Amino acid sequence: MTPPVGSRYLRWAKLHRPSRYDLTSSGMPHLALADLPAPPGTLALGGTGAYGYGALGNAIARRYRVPADRVVQALGCSMANFLAMSALLGPADEVVIEHPAYEPLLSVARHLGASIRRFPRRAEDGFAIDPAEVARAVTARTRLIVITNLHNPSGAFTDDETLREIGRIAESAGARALVDEVYLDALFEAEPRTSAHLGDVFIATSSLTKVYGLAGLRCGWILAEPRLACRMWRMVEIANNIGAHPAEQLAAAAFAGIDAIAARSKAMLDANRDALNAFYRTRGDLEWTEHRAGSVSFPRLRRGSVRRLRRVLAADGATDIVPGAFFGMPDHFRIGLGVDPAAFAAGLERLGRALDHLDRTS
Ligand SMILES: Cc1ncc(COP(=O)(O)O)c(C=O)c1O
Repeated sequence: MTPPVGSRYLRWAKLHRPSRYDLTSSGMPHLALADLPAPPGTLALGGTGAYGYGALGNAIARRYRVPADRVVQALGCSMANFLAMSALLGPADEVVIEHPAYEPLLSVARHLGASIRRFPRRAEDGFAIDPAEVARAVTARTRLIVITNLHNPSGAFTDDETLREIGRIAESAGARALVDEVYLDALFEAEPRTSAHLGDVFIATSSLTKVYGLAGLRCGWILAEPRLACRMWRMVEIANNIGAHPAEQLAAAAFAGIDAIAARSKAMLDANRDALNAFYRTRGDLEWTEHRAGSVSFPRLRRGSVRRLRRVLAADGATDIVPGAFFGMPDHFRIGLGVDPAAFAAGLERLGRALDHLDRTS
């Protein structure tokens, strides 16, 4: 049988009409080309055709403090996840994935023919991971445990102690743990953390997309122990063979100026975090957890349906949110904070008005 292909959520994300004060985006707004440090010399069209662009691999290795032979370059975190899961999962295998989850992670597993088991991250616990729930979901057939840190859709952070426990659970089943860290740099630590430092059981994926507003460069990567990294490079041979060299050079230049890019993102997310928490405090009709870090938040509507809320928002067409149904939680919706603060405030104001309308009429 032909395996299923595609992602319902990404299809929606690609086709839905962007609104003026859009709260659907999960990452930072695109940076302008002029905001990137210029690459040294002129952009060359052709690279070596070998395994990745050395200068970029070294920049990633330096920033995340891992040896360069643990870095695999990929086209965005999407392809990083696809390569990592393809290298580890086949039709007879089982994968354990968090719930709620970024839907494409499930779609990749389905496409590979793996059987999927879920463990819950509960709203009432602030979507924290309970390792006992992970252990309950794992069986002798589990080859991979998949989580996101920070969590998409809630933005919840998982600390090293919890990660180590997940690593131990994976090891005792002969499995690995894939940690999608595409939002993790939104902690803005001087030395960005990665689960890749916690042991070879971990595979970390990330990209310059979300925190740095550089989706267009398609600069993604996997950090994995060298033998597994080699297997993933072999997958690259048949997936895309070589990278887009102009984008690779721009990405290497972006790493040279990454602190300034991060500072711009931090200023925007700090302002919007405060605005969002102030907004939440005025809303008895939402169940929410204090937003701490990252570019997404996932409140629950206490009354009425998210479908209706979106219909009310659509009436003036200026604001939209992501339905929680894409994450398997239809009473929730996702708010994106990666928006200019004035537009974010305008979006929240419209969301508040739509919620008031829903309160009056449900
Ligand atoms: C958890 C997660 N991983 C990966 C991606 C895709 O990242 P990229 O644009 O770098 O492919 C997204 C995008 O929304 C995401 O939320």
